[in-house]
Amino acid sequence: MGESDRKRYNCWIGAMKSFYLETFGCQMNVHDSEKVIGTLEQRGYAQVDTADAADLVLYNTCSIRDKAEQKVFHRLQEGKRVKGKVFGVLGCVAQQEGEKIFERAPHVSLVVGSASYTKLGELLVRIEAGERKVTGLSLDTEDTFETPLTRRDNPHRAYITIIEGCDKSCAYCVVPFTRGPERSRTSQSVIDETAKLASSGYSEIQLLGQNVNSYRDPSPAGWDFARLLEAVGSVPGIRRVRFTTSHPRDFVKEIIDAIDRTETLCNQVHLPVQSGSSRVLAAMQRQYTRDQYMQRIEWMKNAKRDIAISTDIIVGFPGETDEDFEHTLHLLDEVEYDSIFSFKYSQRPNTPALKLEDQIPEEEKSRRLTILQERQRAIQMRRNTNLVGGRQEVLVEGSNSSTGQWIGRTSQNRILNFTTAPRPDGTVIPRERMIGNYLPVRVTRAGPNSLVGECAIAV
Ligand code: 5AD
Ligand code: SF4
Repeated sequence: MGESDRKRYNCWIGAMKSFYLETFGCQMNVHDSEKVIGTLEQRGYAQVDTADAADLVLYNTCSIRDKAEQKVFHRLQEGKRVKGKVFGVLGCVAQQEGEKIFERAPHVSLVVGSASYTKLGELLVRIEAGERKVTGLSLDTEDTFETPLTRRDNPHRAYITIIEGCDKSCAYCVVPFTRGPERSRTSQSVIDETAKLASSGYSEIQLLGQNVNSYRDPSPAGWDFARLLEAVGSVPGIRRVRFTTSHPRDFVKEIIDAIDRTETLCNQVHLPVQSGSSRVLAAMQRQYTRDQYMQRIEWMKNAKRDIAISTDIIVGFPGETDEDFEHTLHLLDEVEYDSIFSFKYSQRPNTPALKLEDQIPEEEKSRRLTILQERQRAIQMRRNTNLVGGRQEVLVEGSNSSTGQWIGRTSQNRILNFTTAPRPDGTVIPRERMIGNYLPVRVTRAGPNSLVGECAIAV
């Protein structure tokens, strides 16, 4: 650092403190960012909306696929020219690349993986004292990152982490290397947090973990996931509970039984399959066969509740033949998912699949992805059309000023855009009267990705 940079840097330390935080990736990252923001605000930092306006610029990063990782380095390149700011990289790319980030982006001063967020306070003290290369990269933690300072942006729906890390070793997945081994929170702390959120007006809870099904209460109570789920759903004031993500190997029937018994548990399950071919599943080290997966689907289809099912699929895993891919397409027809997230296989550092021969060319992966998505689109259109004429309860989440519609979400996790009956006095319904409400809506039209409807109640 040159003398003028040093002066500006020291000046920043004296006058601190605004920060900008951009989050990439999954809901786990979004929730981690809520906790990071709370931690920073408690240390006197104020959040600003642009990197330009901030003293401290942080990126909470995702490395699940190469594209996500490249986006982060692109952002860092943009920041390179700006002097006098402190840059930090948090999350999965931080853990994966570690100190190499300082070489690739020398203007970065802070590199912290998610397993070290509990130490964020101490690491910031070192940054504030003028240290230029501060890292938190240890994975041998037994802690989960809990803080009463979590700054939640949505006043109605709250995330709660119940388990961090992953003990599986799916051949394509970088997560075990970036988020470390599994650590569960005590059931008591989860229930306490739920009750606190309910008393501050939150009505929907989303339980988070890389594999929530392997939740195991570390306290003597020793609850498993199904037990915890039912208990969270029974907290007074809670109207909806969702959870993500599940692993078929650890997904037990008791989870469906709990959903059947507990009305507050949403009738929606996300159960990633990844491939419809048992041969590919074995190569992916997923620890289940297609038949075992289908048994779980049967449990859901035989449930009393009408459970919406979604999944994740990877196309073009090394060695995936046309026949394997056909099996995946047939699986879509057989299950009739309500929605899917589909991805082209992306080679990730350190993962077992990296060394596999027979990588599938990029154009072929794209071709398969398009076929898969078109097939699923038709299924979704059909399933959504079946709902026309019926009634769904929605949580009102927002509004669309261009269409004049309210945006609601059903228990099955569908978006339902709707209008309301005009008020007798002709006035417009104030936003705050609507958002956060639960309303019955009649479905009038269906698209592949959302529904349209009308609410007869004059709010
Ligand atoms: N390439 C493509 N998709 C991946 N996923 C995880 N790792 C990879 C990878 N290397 C997908 C899986 C997972 C979802 C979160 O991301 O489908 O369930
Ligand atoms: Fe990755 Fe598999 Fe763990 Fe999911 S279960 S985070 S896909 S290793």
